[in-house]
Amino acid sequence: MEQRHVYLVGFMGSGKSTVGEILANKLGAFFVDLDRFIEETVGVEISEIFSEYGEEHFREVESYVLNEVAASPDPSVVATGGGIVLKEDNWRVMEESGVTIHLHASIDTLWNRVSGTNNRPLAEDRQQFESLYWSRLPLYRRAQIEVVSHPKSPEEVAEEVLGALGLVEEKEKEAHPQRET
Ligand code: S3P
Repeated sequence: MEQRHVYLVGFMGSGKSTVGEILANKLGAFFVDLDRFIEETVGVEISEIFSEYGEEHFREVESYVLNEVAASPDPSVVATGGGIVLKEDNWRVMEESGVTIHLHASIDTLWNRVSGTNNRPLAEDRQQFESLYWSRLPLYRRAQIEVVSHPKSPEEVAEEVLGALGLVEEKEKEAHPQRET
């Protein structure tokens, strides 16, 4: 597998965007926040896409944008939206073009981080948020690497991800010693 991109997956509030930006700097890679990219592409905020066109439409745009980013030859760190893990096709795209990393945190940490913030249509009600969390957790755990993101600073999490990426690279080299990196 050619590991061009690093995909951060995880629930809302897990720190994908903050950690992603730091990680991209450390790796000398581009940083892409998929939600912001969607808003720029469509010209409408996420909450408005949900309310005006529905979640299904949002998911289609999300997959389209993911494909665009994956096809880019420039190595990028990609902060995905929490629901990217819902589609098998999205996994295929991420796994074929990079390495996937789950930023994990407890439900209380996540809720504290996102409750009261705008533009997250799926984080308006604690009960709904919690059941979504439990249904999503097994999906996030498909990622190649899991890093617990709390209680740590974003800088510490980024360092941990860097270390884990080094291990994945070593394993890849052991499995395919003849390949150029
Ligand atoms: C979603 C998470 C959000 C955003 C949208 C849907 C989800 O992104 O894509 O509101 O389904 O979990 P963040 O994980 O960056 O908050």
